[in-house]
Amino acid sequence: MTITIKTEHDIAKMRVACRLASEVLDYITPLVKPGITTGELDRLCHEYMINEQHTVPAPLNYQPPGYPPYPKATCISVNDVICHGIPGDKQLKNGDTLNIDITVIKEGYFGDTSRMFIVGEGSILAKRLVQVTYECMWLGIEQVQPGAHLGDIGHAIQRHAEAHGYSVVREYCGHGIGTVFHEDPQILHYGRPGTGVQIQPGMIFTVEPMINAGRRDIRTMPDQWTVKTRDRSLSAQWEHTVLVTQTGYEVLTVSAGTPAKPTIAVTA
Ligand code: MF3
Ligand code: CO
Ligand code: CO
Repeated sequence: MTITIKTEHDIAKMRVACRLASEVLDYITPLVKPGITTGELDRLCHEYMINEQHTVPAPLNYQPPGYPPYPKATCISVNDVICHGIPGDKQLKNGDTLNIDITVIKEGYFGDTSRMFIVGEGSILAKRLVQVTYECMWLGIEQVQPGAHLGDIGHAIQRHAEAHGYSVVREYCGHGIGTVFHEDPQILHYGRPGTGVQIQPGMIFTVEPMINAGRRDIRTMPDQWTVKTRDRSLSAQWEHTVLVTQTGYEVLTVSAGTPAKPTIAVTA
């Protein structure tokens, strides 16, 4: 395993790429409405990246070993889709929950972030799952400081999700990021405190828990990308890219529209 420690130059470039990724979400937020298709949202994001930001969408044609090339600029995962939903002709309707995951490349550096949206009025369950998943991401981020262990992040996330009767998806994880989309270390969203690699200043990685309302089991669709809950329960995900500082963390994927950090009732 090779974990890169970023230089001040790298960090400056990552601040820009990550802010731009977040600004794509700011741009698309008012357009997430009943009747629009996920394909239209993807096209609008893609045009914004290319024409306004002069960024490159990292997902387009991304092809990890064993996968077909990813066909779109963004991932949009609706309702029981956990992650890697391929935008298409699906029209959003009142009550749908969706994750829009944006990764842009700017001057060779990758910024990766996602947010949840609820179309119109969501069910109590949908609102609660989206909120608890947001708290999970933040509880994980708050573990980040030099000397802590990666297992501390996973444990904080798993504990909060399971305290609410939800489950943590284990097949996908956060990741180191910089001039490479997915690099070491893997950031598991479950685990035990004090285990795993020690966190060091200059590391940059994502925290992106996928939390299911029901069981954690997954099913991959025939398109080889779309991942759904096996039991068809709702799933939610939020993602930030985070820098480890000398004293803690700096969230890099911030922009004018970034939702506030939650006030979390600590469970005993
Ligand atoms: N943005 C996703 C992540 O958070 C990765 C998407 S890969 C794609 O790591 F090919 F599906 F776009
Ligand atoms: Co990511
Ligand atoms: Co992402």
